[in-house]
Amino acid sequence: MEVIVQKIKIGLLAFLVSGGILVANAATTTAQLPTMNAATLKTYDGKNGHKAYVALNGYVYDVSNVSAWKGGKHYKGMVAGTDLTSHIDESPHGPNVVKQLKLNPVAIYK
Ligand code: HEM
Repeated sequence: MEVIVQKIKIGLLAFLVSGGILVANAATTTAQLPTMNAATLKTYDGKNGHKAYVALNGYVYDVSNVSAWKGGKHYKGMVAGTDLTSHIDESPHGPNVVKQLKLNPVAIYK
């Protein structure tokens, strides 16, 4: 009997801990992100000390620390503060570049 009670306790503890991990993970998903519109995005142009943000496939990414985006400028006339979704197919790297750079979205682009 004692053993069964012990097992139930361990099971309950494991359940609570896994639930906690799920909640902690949920907090870092995109569901909690703020939204950003085109007018606000435009201010993150990477110039004059502004951060450099770009929109891609419905999300906004901070590229301030990406050297290829220094000063808010990139290849082929791409600039920060804009939505790049319609141009990403012109790039040699494609949309996966955000994953490769381990960039997390900072906002949902609306
Ligand atoms: C979230 C958006 C983007 C990110 C984070 C990103 C990031 C990067 C990075 C890290 C590189 C490599 C830089 C280097 O090797 O010096 C690169 C190269 C490049 N990207 Fe992007 N990029 C983005 C969007 C775009 C878009 C929309 C275009 C559209 C034309 C583009 C065109 C290029 C080109 C032409 C290169 C140069 C490749 C080469 O000649 O080596 N990128 N990008």
